[in-house]
Amino acid sequence: MSSSQRVRVSLDVDGSRYVDDVEPRTLLVQHLRERLGKVGTVIGCDTSNCGSCTVLMGGPDEPQHSVKSCSVLAVQADGASVTTVEGLAGPDGSLHAVQQAFHELHALQCGFCTPGMIMSAVDLLRDNPDPSEEEIREGLSGNLCRCTGYQNIVRAVQAAAAALRAQVPEEVTA
Ligand code: FES
Ligand code: FES
Repeated sequence: MSSSQRVRVSLDVDGSRYVDDVEPRTLLVQHLRERLGKVGTVIGCDTSNCGSCTVLMGGPDEPQHSVKSCSVLAVQADGASVTTVEGLAGPDGSLHAVQQAFHELHALQCGFCTPGMIMSAVDLLRDNPDPSEEEIREGLSGNLCRCTGYQNIVRAVQAAAAALRAQVPEEVTA
């Protein structure tokens, strides 16, 4: 296949279906930003190292998990569902608990790492609703921040975890 030959890719992104013809070499992060306008997902390195491009991705019948969208080709994501940081807010525009906690606890300075950091934190809290500090640091180890020293990020994830746990209705016991 020549690199200029295009391949049809169908993706659900932030709740909308997109069907596009892409070059086989196009990275998912390029496709999200340049074709779909999802510029909230950012590119911070060319070594698959920084995590700023992190999104959630799953199959039609598989749960979503965090992936570095610079390490996935758009054609590999064909048929997948993807959530970017732009798809986290509720239908009424209310921030996701992780977004809210990052805002309230000053878990960002320049903000460049924040979209990826938030997506990794969302994935972490889905798998582990009550993580220890060590588990949070381990869970976010693929996301680099040059500014904050991570302390407020850890605090924000702890606060978001508590807020999300409080949203789960307590089981009624007779
Ligand atoms: S842009 Fe740095 S890991 Fe993807
Ligand atoms: S807030 Fe600047 S890189 Fe994390």
